[in-house]
Amino acid sequence: MSIKTTGDNMDIEAQKRAAGEAAIEFVEDKGVIGVGTGSTVKYFIDALAKIRHRIDGAVSSSEQSSQLLRAHGIQVLDLNAVGTLAVYVDGADECDPARRLIKGGGGALTREKIIAAVSKKFVCIVDAHKCVGVLGKFPLPVEVIPMARSHVAREIERRGGTPVWRADYVTDNGNWILDVHGLHIADPVALESEWNQITGVVTVGLFAHRPADVVLVGDGRRF
Ligand code: 5RP
Repeated sequence: MSIKTTGDNMDIEAQKRAAGEAAIEFVEDKGVIGVGTGSTVKYFIDALAKIRHRIDGAVSSSEQSSQLLRAHGIQVLDLNAVGTLAVYVDGADECDPARRLIKGGGGALTREKIIAAVSKKFVCIVDAHKCVGVLGKFPLPVEVIPMARSHVAREIERRGGTPVWRADYVTDNGNWILDVHGLHIADPVALESEWNQITGVVTVGLFAHRPADVVLVGDGRRF
């Protein structure tokens, strides 16, 4: 049985597909496109494959997406060889009305943040249930250097979060992830700044300093 969203009759999978396909309009001819990670992005990659002759290649945020892109005949390029990007398309785990995001459910948050930082336009693709008033219901992923895991966990507990070590998971960068429960992120910019300063943290999966530029929701909304 498919899961229905409130407010419309499209199921979540159909919304992911709709959002992924809608992002194609932002792809620039003869450009290199930044490509994120996840089940929504997979639909974008499927759609991108149909116009692959129009682009020069892609920079990818994960080994998983790189494999998919190559399987579709799309060249995957090293970001260092490309420099900056015009457009980056990626999903999110939560999105607030100011287009600030929680990302990293798929574990690719650090590379995603790097690609977002070098991209002129960040197009975020989500289904409607990812849109929230205040970020924090989805556990906030934090990538940590393995030897700092318990130190970072204690620091997060001191700040009111409940960190859970993502079991049996190693990021593409060889690090670990703490998923932080119990948050109500009233000031995402401040939290991103402060937590990024905890020694041993590689990246906090909060995209507030660099939010998305446009959000495409699978129910047809955009903001
Ligand atoms: C991966 C991410 C994804 O964009 C996020 O988890 C959303 O994934 P999905 O489209 O599968 O719901 O941040 O690190």
